[in-house]
Amino acid sequence: MSKPHVLLGVTGCIAAYKAAEVLRALQKRGAEVRVVMTRQAAEFVGPATFRALADAPVGVGGFDDPQDAIPHIRAAEWADLLLVAPCTANVAAKLAHGIADDLLTSTALACTAPIMVAPAMNVHMYEAAATQANLAVLRERGVHVLDAESGYLACGEAGPGRLPEPAAVADAVLALLEGNGAGGDLAGRRVLVTAGPTVESVDAVRFLSNRSSGKMGYAVAEAAAARGADVTLVSGPVALDAPSGVHRVAVGTADEMLAAARAAFDGADVAVFAAAVADRRPARPVERKLKKGADDAALAAIELEPTPDVLATLAAGKQPGQFVVGFAAETDDVAANAARKLEAKGADMVVANDVSDGKAFGADDNEALLVTAAGVEPLPPMAKRALADVILDRAVAALAAG
Ligand code: CTP
Repeated sequence: MSKPHVLLGVTGCIAAYKAAEVLRALQKRGAEVRVVMTRQAAEFVGPATFRALADAPVGVGGFDDPQDAIPHIRAAEWADLLLVAPCTANVAAKLAHGIADDLLTSTALACTAPIMVAPAMNVHMYEAAATQANLAVLRERGVHVLDAESGYLACGEAGPGRLPEPAAVADAVLALLEGNGAGGDLAGRRVLVTAGPTVESVDAVRFLSNRSSGKMGYAVAEAAAARGADVTLVSGPVALDAPSGVHRVAVGTADEMLAAARAAFDGADVAVFAAAVADRRPARPVERKLKKGADDAALAAIELEPTPDVLATLAAGKQPGQFVVGFAAETDDVAANAARKLEAKGADMVVANDVSDGKAFGADDNEALLVTAAGVEPLPPMAKRALADVILDRAVAALAAG
């Protein structure tokens, strides 16, 4: 097999010297590495260092190579993965906003391969709302953001902001390449996951929702991405970060969830509906706040109407070769209710949970039954992340069987 191509982007901060070790660590793990540096990075470490280590030309700063008219496109096409390490706050901001004013940021914009960034900076710059918002934008778009490590920083302060050890950065790159390469059994597959609750407005301040934490759906999205899938996660409001490499679409209402899921469903090989969609919504939400006294009658009798069933609506248009998974949260007759949902909603498999006594909701583990047309398979208690892999194992087997 040919060596994976890692394009290493080096930006201007003191951790730039560690990029040379990152390069060596990647080479030791079998990668071919080329380097693009910002002009500021070259103030910290000379391009000659990287040229010698990579045994290849190094792009620095802007587009001033007389030999190559479109170096950013060529570099982007060459890369199996773009790693920006260290990534300054400034370059993270540019990447988040699509600013392409030098060779590295133009290459990143042109790059369709996976992108990983390893931020490194002063603790206050790292924790600044602007930086965290930019990193969140990158995560939402599927960029793999390595968390900075805590420790003593060059500025003399302690806290998060350090580049992780070069070996750890290289390991993360290789793990991602393997997940996206031949090693991942969902490589080249598209997976849609719905997760979290939906929220339906009563008035300007009140809403109807439920206790879904989103953990199960997020675990499925994370597992599918780790197995090489191109994952779209349609998520109601939850307190979880988008898993690395997953494209998250944030939604509020059941209608919004249906629209976003519909957009991803047609091209999906596997669709896992783990969201706890509100079954009913206020029939006449009001834009102002309902007041005690004046609006007592309206508050005492909020009329509800059904929401669309996202799973049933989309599964009705299921094509051969698509594998559709639903969940069933039940307090009684778990297997029988799940079998009914399998049939009624047109899913290929229903993952049934007993949610009596507060079980499953918000927990990290789960005891589930897999219900298919072939029967009921009880699973032992396991972490939601492990259950996610079992669900995907079944999906992979079904896709292989055609
Ligand atoms: N679901 C959906 N859209 C809805 C309701 C449910 O997509 N409006 C999906 C869920 O994501 C889940 C499955 O349907 O995969 C079953 O959800 P559950 O809440 O257990 O079932 P309900 O349809 O709400 O049925 P019931 O109230 O009878 O339990």
